[in-house]
Amino acid sequence: MKYLAVLGRQPEISIAELEATNFCTDINCLGGTLKLAEKMEQKPLEYLQTLSEGKITIGVSDYSKNATRKSATSEALKLKKILVRHGRSVRVVENKEAALSTATSLHNGLSGKNERKIELIKVDDEWYRVIGVQDIDAYAKRDQARPARDAKVGMLPPKLAQVLINLCGQLKKGSVVLDPFCGTGVVLQEAILLGYRAYGTDISERMVEYSKRNLEWIVSRARDARARRYGARCVSSPLVAMLSKQPFKISVGDATSFKWEQSIDAVACEGYLGKPFSRIPSEIELKEQKQECGDIVLGFLKNLAKQIKKDTPVVIAVPAWLRPDGGYERLEIVDEIENMGYNVNNKTREGLIYHRDNQVVARDILILRKK
Ligand SMILES: C[S@@+](CC[C@H](N)C(=O)[O-])C[C@H]1O[C@@H](n2cnc3c(N)ncnc32)[C@H](O)[C@@H]1O
Repeated sequence: MKYLAVLGRQPEISIAELEATNFCTDINCLGGTLKLAEKMEQKPLEYLQTLSEGKITIGVSDYSKNATRKSATSEALKLKKILVRHGRSVRVVENKEAALSTATSLHNGLSGKNERKIELIKVDDEWYRVIGVQDIDAYAKRDQARPARDAKVGMLPPKLAQVLINLCGQLKKGSVVLDPFCGTGVVLQEAILLGYRAYGTDISERMVEYSKRNLEWIVSRARDARARRYGARCVSSPLVAMLSKQPFKISVGDATSFKWEQSIDAVACEGYLGKPFSRIPSEIELKEQKQECGDIVLGFLKNLAKQIKKDTPVVIAVPAWLRPDGGYERLEIVDEIENMGYNVNNKTREGLIYHRDNQVVARDILILRKK
């Protein structure tokens, strides 16, 4: 089966994520993928004609090179015209652009769950049928409804937390995922929803309290029937069994010296990102920040190296800073990391830098594995 992942503006992250999860097809588990589609064996019209009785809703997204709103609309209307001629009742979802936005697809029910509500994707001569659309509402809910939030530590979006965990590769359900800079617990929360046990530490007592409150909240939500609203749809019976026990442990600890008590299967975290700049830092400020953040991440990796087994994946988001030329300056720490006993998986790539437009402090994702 050939799949197509619609990846939004940071395609590299999503591709790496899909590869790491061995092409997982559950959209709820793929934070970096907006839509997932399956290549169609039949022509779109032939496929639509096989659908059971009742009104059909069609959306067309054209991701071909020179696609326009007009080209997508014309494909949709062509299909509608023929189907109507064959006596079918058809509604076409209006295109505002060549491709339907994730919100439009989701809110029109085109997420692959109802066989008569279909989004078709055109890429040049190939056609795909959408089998999953990112539930942006569920991500927003489990971000905004958390009881303990703190804008000062920077809000890691839940979908990026999922990407960090997925980049660890395939882990067994119930594996222990450590976040040694757990902050308010976003990575830990997503780890639990993906079926893992969460182990968090943070140097700040306040953050540890926040994480505890947030995790108690998400676990109680994931246990009850309303779990769906929080995107815990991948809740499987092993996860429910795991949730009936305490699926997390959190304590205060300095990541550069702490001795973790549990055995660790994977590490996924957003490290200390330094000062939250709202303007481009000066050369002096940049030097200071690189030193401070670099020391913490290297101190942590050195401490961790003694405590994890060979092949343990470690995925860490570190800061990168916007420069006047529009590029990002990264920490130059890869050689030191290798000397500490890690393989750097994405060494040869440009790096996976995650940022909004003009965001001053971006997140640069390092994918490591203990040698
Ligand atoms: C960018 S925040 C992480 C935010 C977190 N991912 C979240 O979503 O809330 C970095 C965290 O690292 C913690 N921190 C800073 N230095 C640390 C150290 N040496 N050891 C452990 N935690 C540290 C801070 O208290 C802060 O909570």
